[in-house]
Amino acid sequence: MTAVSQPLPMTRREFLYYVWGASMALLMAESVGATLWFTLPRFREGEFGGLFPLEVTAIPEVDSKPKGIPDGRFWLVNVGDKRINDPRFAQVGTEKFRPKNKGLKVIYMVCVHLGCLYGWGDASDRFECPCHGSKYLADGTTYSNPANRNLDTFEFEFQDAAGNTLAKSEPDADGNIQPVEIPSGATTIVVNTGKRFNGQSNDPGKNN
Ligand code: FES
Repeated sequence: MTAVSQPLPMTRREFLYYVWGASMALLMAESVGATLWFTLPRFREGEFGGLFPLEVTAIPEVDSKPKGIPDGRFWLVNVGDKRINDPRFAQVGTEKFRPKNKGLKVIYMVCVHLGCLYGWGDASDRFECPCHGSKYLADGTTYSNPANRNLDTFEFEFQDAAGNTLAKSEPDADGNIQPVEIPSGATTIVVNTGKRFNGQSNDPGKNN
């Protein structure tokens, strides 16, 4: 009669190994899921991917700290003389990106390097990415690599109370998105989070 081989019982070391493996798989799934949730558009008004209306009162003061709108995944930046005359454009050879006029820019919250969420640094007066150290001036111009292009921006327009378009963001002759001055009579900004303009290429080197 042939003996039937029995499976060997799992050792404590093997058990702990499998538990660790399952935990890592769960952690990765959660991380990927959260990234997809944030990145993928949903195409409904008032949600990322669709038209995102805001009252003009949402715009921060001229040259003050940019205002984050997390639901729309963008920053509102009110560019004034201080931003236009920022000496850091000259320091890192980005004169061609210095804004040509004052007004509003709407900047995508995701870093153009590898997709992390960057934040605003009050002390440094610039955007800073915690993942690999990319830095950007307030208008989205790259100040320090590894990011080698400026931040992406969203198309937007100013409307009056009747819904008429008064002014809208468009690329200039060089393909840069310039700030748009707030027209008189504007009551609403409508940001099209389904239409993104890629930031211009730029390699400012590693700057502190
Ligand atoms: S993802 Fe922002 S620096 Fe790498």
